[in-house]
Order: sequence, then C-alpha cells, then structure tokens
Amino acid sequence: MAEQEGLEFGKADFVLLDNLTIEEFLENLKLRFDKNRIYTYIGEVVISVNPYQQIDLYGRDMIEYYRGRELYERPPHLYAIADSAYKAMKRRAKDTCIVISGESGAGKTEASKYIMQYIAAITNPSQRVEVESVKNTLLKSNCVLEAFGNAKTNRNDNSSRFGKYMDINFDFKGDPTGGHINNYLLEKSRVIVQQGGERNFHSFYQECERSAKLSWLLMLKLIVGGSDDLLKSLYLQRDAAEYAFTKDGAAVNSVINDKENFKAVMNAMKVIGFSEEEIDTIYKILAIILHLGNLMFITENDTASISNSSLVSHIAEIAMTEPGTVTKTLLHRTVATGGGDVIEKGHTVQEAAYGRDAFAKAIYERLFCWIVNRINSVIEEKDYDPRIHGKNTVIGVLDIYGFEIFENNSFEQFCINYCNEKLQQLFIELILRQEQAEYQREGITWQHIEYFNNQIIVDLVEQPHKGIIAILDEACMNVGKVTDAILVDTMDSKLGKHAHYTSRKLSPTERNMEFSKHFRIKHYAGQVTYSVEGFIDKNKDTLYQDFKRLMYNSSNPVLKDMWPEGKLSITEVTKRPLTAATLFRSSMIALVVNLECKEPYYVRCIKPNDQKSPVIFDYERCRHQVEYLGLLENVRVRRAGFAYRLPYERFLLRYKMICEYTWPNHLMTTDLEATRIIIDQHGFQQDVAYGKTKLFIRTPQTLFGLESVRAGTIPFIVLFLQKIWRGTLARRRCRGMKAVYKIMSYYKTFKVKAYLIEVMRRFQNVRSMKDYGKSVTWPTPPTVLVKFEENMKYLFRRWRARQIVKNIPPSDMPQIKVKIAAMDALSGRRKDWGVQRTWEQDYLSSARDNPGMTAQFATAMKGLKCKEQFSSVLFSAHVRKVNRFNKCEDRAILITDQHLYKLEPAKRYKSMKALPLNQVTGVSVTNGRDQLIIFHTKTNDDLVICLDKMQRGNDNRIGEVVGVLTNHFNKSKLPLQVNVCNPIHCNMRGKNRTVVVEERIEQTLPDFKKNHTGFTLYWPGI
Ligand SMILES: Nc1ncnc2c1ncn2[C@@H]1O[C@H](COP(=O)(O)OP(=O)(O)O)[C@@H](O)[C@H]1O
Ligand SMILES: [Mg+2]
Repeated sequence: MAEQEGLEFGKADFVLLDNLTIEEFLENLKLRFDKNRIYTYIGEVVISVNPYQQIDLYGRDMIEYYRGRELYERPPHLYAIADSAYKAMKRRAKDTCIVISGESGAGKTEASKYIMQYIAAITNPSQRVEVESVKNTLLKSNCVLEAFGNAKTNRNDNSSRFGKYMDINFDFKGDPTGGHINNYLLEKSRVIVQQGGERNFHSFYQECERSAKLSWLLMLKLIVGGSDDLLKSLYLQRDAAEYAFTKDGAAVNSVINDKENFKAVMNAMKVIGFSEEEIDTIYKILAIILHLGNLMFITENDTASISNSSLVSHIAEIAMTEPGTVTKTLLHRTVATGGGDVIEKGHTVQEAAYGRDAFAKAIYERLFCWIVNRINSVIEEKDYDPRIHGKNTVIGVLDIYGFEIFENNSFEQFCINYCNEKLQQLFIELILRQEQAEYQREGITWQHIEYFNNQIIVDLVEQPHKGIIAILDEACMNVGKVTDAILVDTMDSKLGKHAHYTSRKLSPTERNMEFSKHFRIKHYAGQVTYSVEGFIDKNKDTLYQDFKRLMYNSSNPVLKDMWPEGKLSITEVTKRPLTAATLFRSSMIALVVNLECKEPYYVRCIKPNDQKSPVIFDYERCRHQVEYLGLLENVRVRRAGFAYRLPYERFLLRYKMICEYTWPNHLMTTDLEATRIIIDQHGFQQDVAYGKTKLFIRTPQTLFGLESVRAGTIPFIVLFLQKIWRGTLARRRCRGMKAVYKIMSYYKTFKVKAYLIEVMRRFQNVRSMKDYGKSVTWPTPPTVLVKFEENMKYLFRRWRARQIVKNIPPSDMPQIKVKIAAMDALSGRRKDWGVQRTWEQDYLSSARDNPGMTAQFATAMKGLKCKEQFSSVLFSAHVRKVNRFNKCEDRAILITDQHLYKLEPAKRYKSMKALPLNQVTGVSVTNGRDQLIIFHTKTNDDLVICLDKMQRGNDNRIGEVVGVLTNHFNKSKLPLQVNVCNPIHCNMRGKNRTVVVEERIEQTLPDFKKNHTGFTLYWPGI
C-alpha cells in the first residue's frame, strides 16, 4: 500500500476503496488523473493512465526519491516498481520481468523507457567503463529501434509496430553487464501501404523547417554536411510525396519532430558502434525501397515489362548489382522442375507487382532484424563464466504492441490481438489463478473469486489442427487456389460452435460484417471483426528465391550479410518455409515460457481518451479497459489475499536471528512452530496465516516490519561474528608465532653449535702451526655470537702473543719493549722507522759506528756519570743542528734516564747543554725517510736536530729515538706527545718557527738552511 498523499488525491491503492465497484474504481482513477496522479497501485501492480502531457515526475530528484525505498514508502510510480524488481533481483538473486500491457497509445513504450532510465540511473555507482557502455547501448538502442520500428498511426503518433522484449543481465553486484533484445513480428505491410492518416515507418521521413515532408535523405545531407551530389548519388528527390510508398504519409500532419529524431538516431547508431559503411547501407536500403515503389509494370507481348527502366539501373547501382539481373529478378522467377531442372517463368504484371512488394517488405524486415542483431552483438554478454563472475540475474522488460481494433482489421491485428490474449492469459495464470490455487493447496480458508479466463480464446487461435492459425496454414498449403471465401467457409464450419467466433453466415443479422469476407473474434478486450483479405498471402509471406540470390550477390558486404540464404541455388531449397502465423505463435509461446519462469511485475496502461487530450477522461473507454484488463478482479484477489508468502524453511533462514529461541537454531519439532514463535514474539499474529508449507503474510507492512527488526539485529550479529572470527584469527596467529619462535630457538642453537664446532675444527692444530694460527680464517659467527667472536679473537691474539713472547730470549726483551713503544707511537703514521734493525741505542759507544772515538766518548761519559748519577744510556748518536747564527753544525746527543745532553764531538764529547728529561714535552718527526727530530720543551726552546753519520748511510734511527723515549716516559708515567707531520711547528728561543724537509738528489750531507719562516732541512735524496 502506497503512502497516502492526502484524500484530495484519491486512493493511491485501489485495495483501499471503500466499495469495490466499477464506478468507484473509475471515480478514483479519474480523480487521480485530473490531479496528475497518473499512477495507482493494486498491490504491486501499477495502473498507469496516459497523461498526454509532460508531467514533472521523472527527473534525477525523483529517481533519488524512490531509490532503495520500499513500495509503500512513496506515492505510486514506475520507479517504485522498477526498484522493486531490481531489489528482488539483487537481494534474492531472482530473475524478474516487468510486463507492460495496454492498448496502442496507452503509454507502454514511454513506461518502458522510464523504467530503463531508472535502472540505468541507479546502477554502476563505481562508473565502470564497460558497464557504462552497456547502459549507453541499451538506452540508445531504443532510439534506433523506434526510428525503424515505429510509425505514426491513428492511435498513436509513435506507435510501436513491433514487439520488444529486452533482457538486461546483471552481475552479482547488480550492475548491468549485457543484454539481449527479442523483436516480434514487425508490421512490414506498412512499408507498402498505410491506412488513411497514418505514415510509413519514421525512418522514411524527416521534417524540415517549412514542414514540407522531405525524404530522410535531405536530412542526411543536412547533418553530414554532404552536397546535392549525395542526393544525386542515390537518385532521390527531396519530397517524400514523390514516392509511392511514402506519398500518403507525406500528407499527414504530425507532431513528430523528424529532424531532431534523425539527429538522435544518427548519434545513437554511432554510439552503439555502427560503422560508416553500415549506416550508409541502411540508408541505401531505404533508397532501394523507395525506388522499388515507383517501378511501373506494363504488359508487353503477354509478359510484364518495366516502363520506367531507368529506375532499375538506379536500384542496381545502389544495391551494387547488375541492372540486367535486377530486371530479370523483377520480371521472372526460377522454378525447379521435378527432374532437378530449372526453368525461368515470366511474371504477369500482377505477379511482378506482388513480387516487388514482397521484396520491398522483406528487405525492410531484414534490415530491421539485422539492426536488432547488430545491437545484440554489441550488448551481448561476452566471456561470462558464473564460476568467476557470480550468478548472473536478469530483468526483462516487455513492451509489446497493445490490443488494436481498427476500421479494417487485417492479419497484423489478428496476430497482435492474439499476442495480447497470451499476455492476459499469463497475467491470469500468475496473478489470479495460481494465487487462488495456492491458497487451496496450502489449506488457507479462501473464498473463490470469479474472473474471466481467456484461455478459451487463446485456444481458438492457437490450438493445433483446430485453431484459426492451423486452418489458415492448411489453406496456405493447399496446392489449389484457396480463396478468401473458401477460408471463411472452412473456419465457419470448423469453429462455428465456438462461443468466441462468429461471421456473417453464423450471425446473419450482423450487418457490419460481409459474407465470405469478415469473421469476428470476441476477444477478452472486445469484439474485433477481421477482414480475411490478404490473410493467406500475408501468412504465406512468399518471397521468390531470386530476390534472395540477387541480394546475396551484391558487392556490398553489409547487404550480402543480411541475405545468407541467397547462397543456396533453387534446387537446394526444398523445404517449405513456415508460415508467418506459425512463426509468430512459436515466438509467443517461447516468450510466455521465458516470462513464466521469472518473478513478474506488472504495469497496466490505460488510455484515457482517443483524442490524445490531457484533460478528457472518457468514462466509457476507461470502463471498457478496466473491465477487460480484469482490474476489479485483481483488486478483489488482492484484498482477500496475502501479499507475501515464504516456505517456513526460507522464512526461518531469513528471520531466525530476530528471536532468541530460533537463533542460531531452533529446538521446536517443526519449522512451522518456530515460525509461529517469531511471529508471536513480534506481535504480527493478526496479519498472517499458516499454510501447510508456507507462511502467508497479508500486508507488506508486516514484511517490512520483520525486515526492519532484522536490519536492526544484523549489526549485532555481524559484530558477534567479527568478534569470534577476530579471536580465531588472533589465536591462529599466536599459535603460528609460538611455532616460529620455537623453530627460531632450535635453529639458533643449531647455528651456535655449528659455529663452535667449526671454530674448534679450524683452530685444532694452531699450537703446532708456525704462525700459531694467524693464517686461519675465522668462520662467520651467527649474530648472537658477534661479541663472543670479538672476545675470542682477543683471547686468541693474547694467546698467540704469549706463544711468541715465550720464545724470545730475555736479553732481547728490553729492545722488544722499546720497539713496541715505537710501534704504538708511529705505526701507521711513519712508513719507515727501522723496526727490522737491531737497535743498539748507544751508538757513540759502538766501535763499529763510532770508530776511533769511543774512548773519548767513554771518558766523557765517565765524567758525566760521576756528576749526574744517571743509571742508563737510552740513546746516543751524532747529529747536525742549527746554531744560534742559523748555521749548521755537527754535534752529538746523549739521552740518559735523566737528561738529554748536547755534546761537542770535536771537543771530546764535552757536554754543551743538559736538558732534564722531565722538561721534554714531546717530539716531532716527519712521515718521510729523513732523520729530523724535534724535541719540544717546556722552556719553549725546542731542540731541532737531524741524526747523522750513520754507518750505513740511510740507516734509520728515528723510530729508535721515539721508542726509547716513549718507553722511558711510559715507565715514568710521564706524558710525551709524539707528532708526525711535515712541516713541523716549533719554538726556538721563544719564537715560532716552521721546519720543513725537502729531499735533494745533489745533497750529500743533511743541511739546515734558514728560510723566511724557519728552516728547511735538505735531505740527500736517492
Ligand atoms: N508518462 C507519460 N508522460 C507524458 N506523455 C506520455 C506518457 N506516456 C505516454 N505519453 C504520450 O502518449 C504517447 C503514446 O505512448 P506510447 O508509450 O508510445 O504508447 P504505446 O507504446 O502504449 O502504444 C506518447 O508518444 C506520449 O506522447
Ligand atoms: Mg509502443
């Protein structure tokens, strides 16, 4: 039941009528129509009255207003029903279909467009490109199909002259992924004749500013910017009145804006993906049809010939065939004789005209079907695999020609009305009969409601052997000529007793029927008198094979593609083609089968008047429609019935979580009892009935009530499930981590063990090795043992040192200590510091180093020792130094454990100066090979000397001096700074000086020279 908009707008659902009478029904319908409330419900069926004016009901805002809402939440609308169908499809994965029925001009096609528009608007929120393209094609296809399949009729300016059923495929997310269009019985006779006031298919016309009717071609020129050459190339005039097939329609005034429509069609075709060549061919085909209509046949020597044969060459050129073949095909037909031979038979004028018309109709029909297939090939779902893409669901939209009663009703009306009978039958089946049958089956108390079942009329038309179609087919198969009169007679004799069939012969008083020409069917929607004229021809639908071959042999590939069976030669075609009525019946049966398996939604359109007026509500016309559509019965069943039903099992599956006794599983003996507990707990017991297997819910409100409780409970259930699941995940992860740690600890132990074993293996024999294992490489330790390795290496080094030191004779030890002290001070800073030599220290006492002078030195020493009481000589050697006058002199130095003496060798080593060692703060040497050494003193009077007179010219004693001094200072715990640099800064007699060393090849003796910052020591180079 829909939202109430206030009583001034009447009842939004006919179920709410106080008294269910036709008068009240119509009153409500009129009231709503007058107030522009064109939609009203009967439960879930939408009744729509054509407003014949644009009402502001369909914009983006409206779509949002209805989106995702339940039917009863908003006023009745097509959008609501579309949303319902969509929700059923998405929530319950149900295939659904929306069946739109009603008379011609009642608003079916418009309704189908709004429904499509709604579905397109609410889907694909993520704007996926492929989905957008499917939607676009689906929407645009309408425009193309309307141009080629719709025409202006007396009932409707835009009457669909074909039936359309469109399936839209949705993926599991509810987005359209493809579709398929089925078209039914195009009224192709319209190509060659139209009733007074009607037009040919829209595609044949366009309208220009001055409202003169132009051929579509001028528009083509206008739009594509082509020149008159284009018109000429197709040999067409601008005026549609020039052509036999369009001249009647050209005079018809219509409100259709052909110009706008043409633009839209061109655009739509491009969007859908028609190629230039295809579009070109489509319009060529229309040109061929127009030319065909103007052909004139005359009798010449008993056979037909063409009087305006120039047209033939135009047709041939446009169709890309030979003019000779075209003429031949138009005037002859090839017939296979019994013995497999082939003869050519000339046409009479009538036969030629008949052949030509059949050809024109057939090309148009082919073109139409080809367009539909072409669109299908674009929107067809490709590579769909339900295992990957999830379940594919379908919404079908059926917009098929409505019931028609014309002045003159022919074969097409017969088919159309039969189709409507079938759909009414489907409606009865689904809404009325099945509904009541189900109540009975389920044992629900139910008062039977009478309605008219039109199955009897369906049978009248389609029953095998006995039905009208069967009789018609038999007449067509007869070899002898069956006339219309014979056909009516046969029907009279076979169907005379049928309550819904009559003719003039059977009801002689009915003067508006002619003998042997008319028959009448009492359709569910009214009586229709059919004229049998043309029934047989239209049913046979003969098209000479020659035409098919003509088209197949065209050099235009698109045209050729439309006529594949033209490939067969006449002798290969043996089977009689099925008749038009039989084909139509099969397609209708297939359609019904397809619809039956879907959940149906109905839109029942009502035409308020025949004047296309927005203000007239023609009571009689409306009453008639309400009656034959069975709407009152529909309301009755609805009022008495139940809106929803669900098998108990399914009910519990959906709602068991809203009751503590049923969640997660109930302990009752039957599902019915469990269901009853849920219903009682939520207080819905007044609104339900319990069937044998199903629960019946009377009003949607109850269902929505259940739904909202469910929606409220679900977040808690979700939280609960999340909680459990998160716990499970955490525990699982924890177990995993524990295992990982265990594995890690075992692995670490293994690595440590492996490392230690390896270390032991490598170092096993180091004791006996010459280098005590110095050359052994350490294995890489695992990270935990890095520190351990450092310690081990340290211990190992100490052990090795111990082993080495152990073997040194004690007499060598002092020298070793000195060398170690020198190494600490100079290693890495000065390249050559004489470590390889034996360090004799007291070189002035060495007879080898100081020949002939040792006695003198010994005497000098004795004197000094007496005086200074030193206990050991640390170092003595000859040196050169700079004197006070910046001149270089030969001297000697002696370092005892007390003093640093400067001696004069020339004066028997007389001590010139004695510097207490504790006055020495540091020494500086260079990093080269020279023997410069500067003793820094606390008194800022540094001693600058270079060692000299070494026995083997380049003997290197700097390391030795540094070694003895540092060793001595270390022992005395005094600081001694050792600098390695060049130039060296120092103080000489309180002044800053810089001493720099330069090597010179030509230098024989080391020599100091004064420079502007201090001194340069020229050292003999090599
Ligand atoms: N909802 C509507 N709003 C406005 N005009 C409508 C509406 N439905 C139908 N019409 C008018 O009625 C005409 C016929 O509708 P159409 O859908 O073609 O009828 P049908 O398909 O039932 O033969 C449309 O061309 C349009 O002018
Ligand atoms: Mg229509």
